[in-house]
Amino acid sequence: MQRDGATTSLWQNNVPDHADSGSMPREAVDVLVVGGGITGLATALLLQQQGKRCIVAEAHTLCFGTTGGTTAHLNTFFDSTYDRLESDFGEDASRLLHSAARSALDLVKRHIAEFGIDCSHAEKDGYVYAQTEEQEKQLYKMFEASVNAGAEVAYTESIPVPMPFRKAIVYRRQAQFHPTRYVLGLDKAFGAAGGLVLQGCRVETFEKEGELLRVKTSRGEISARWLVWATHIPPGINLLHFRNAPYRSYAVAATLSDHNYPDGLAYDLYDPYHYFRTQEVDGKRYLIAGGEDHKTAHVTNTEQCFAQLEAYLRNHYAVEEIAFHWSSQYFEPADGLPYIGHLPGNPDNVLVATGYSGNGMTYSHIAAQLLSDLIVKGESGYASLLAPGRVKPVAGFMDFVKENADVVAQFVGKRLKAGKLPELAGIAPGEGRVVKYEGTNVAIYRNEAGKLYALNPVCTHAKCVVDWNRAEQSWDCPCHGARYSITGDVLTGPARAGLEKIDLEDL
Ligand code: FES
Repeated sequence: MQRDGATTSLWQNNVPDHADSGSMPREAVDVLVVGGGITGLATALLLQQQGKRCIVAEAHTLCFGTTGGTTAHLNTFFDSTYDRLESDFGEDASRLLHSAARSALDLVKRHIAEFGIDCSHAEKDGYVYAQTEEQEKQLYKMFEASVNAGAEVAYTESIPVPMPFRKAIVYRRQAQFHPTRYVLGLDKAFGAAGGLVLQGCRVETFEKEGELLRVKTSRGEISARWLVWATHIPPGINLLHFRNAPYRSYAVAATLSDHNYPDGLAYDLYDPYHYFRTQEVDGKRYLIAGGEDHKTAHVTNTEQCFAQLEAYLRNHYAVEEIAFHWSSQYFEPADGLPYIGHLPGNPDNVLVATGYSGNGMTYSHIAAQLLSDLIVKGESGYASLLAPGRVKPVAGFMDFVKENADVVAQFVGKRLKAGKLPELAGIAPGEGRVVKYEGTNVAIYRNEAGKLYALNPVCTHAKCVVDWNRAEQSWDCPCHGARYSITGDVLTGPARAGLEKIDLEDL
């Protein structure tokens, strides 16, 4: 299975890509879901089951984005803790979010049972532990607020990982699964219910035409009554880009020589925190550990993040082999809650789900329920809590949009002379760097065979300058998380267009 980076996640291994057999529909569909990850497929399936004719359009292949790079924890508690939620939004909001999470986890379980999905789903307890005095105080607050929210939580004397700790709590009935096998199961059920998935279908623009949206895609035009952006972050320039910060998180899947695999999910309270669990895939067990998060494009030597995570793991476990390592992107919302519902600044029939923090598996199914209810019933009990419309326009936003809507290529017709790039010699095979050329920036990558690739490093979304991500061999934008391949193609939005390619001569 393909993914948006050079590393291979545990979930890509031995999992076939979806076979795309669909062709463009001639008639209008009820819902066009954009994005073939867990949110897109779960939403489309719920809608199709309720009689809505749906299409999922995926620019690459199913699970190409963060769904293929998650660590697949299904939790009823969140990175934005219940004490923060309670103090910022009130106890009712906190209770509502907990009930949404519980119902999301139940929905995953129902899907697995109903469609016979073989994805190693298992209910596990989730442990959060404090290792410092400060963290202990934090844990008390988390515990109180979790009880208020209705979570099944208790203090515990033991945790399933060998780390020293002062105090720990346990959330009951959390879960884990194999995410790409789950999504392929949803995909199969969606197809059996009459749904259609179009891969390699990038949605470009749309226009409102009466009740319909006329949507231009890379494979032709589609008319739809509703459009759902399930692309992790919506494309174009939207207020939500200024309320979601992109982050990278790192994961490894290791085998242990003493087979001391944890029975449960575990989380420490550092910032960024470490997280652990066990997964059996095709008869082999792995310890999955994650952490070392940082803002996207704020670290160039991303291999160092893996090295730190591995060193931490080896300090506590008898690591036999790091079988897989991979990194992935998530979006941190400004107020701690995701944005799920109507996309501000768009027609009423354009919806979005974004800002999941590190809780995408749970939020994907909260989104699926919320969005399908909005479309089918016109309302959802979770709608006002998670409404993207709670974001108010910031001063000067419209000027910003106008100024950035069309990013003009700066290098058209120019050929760069390698002789004027003295820094070229310092770029090792497999490395990329943004260098100066006659007062402007150029992104240069040298492949293992020595071939150079030059790109305009100005992000086509809103003109920030991309930076090199060594581990994933990609150009990443620090502003809103767009990512590009070494040839400048879009790996992840919100950019719609690739980086401008630049000719090099004298090489
Ligand atoms: Fe917005 Fe690059 S993603 S400027």
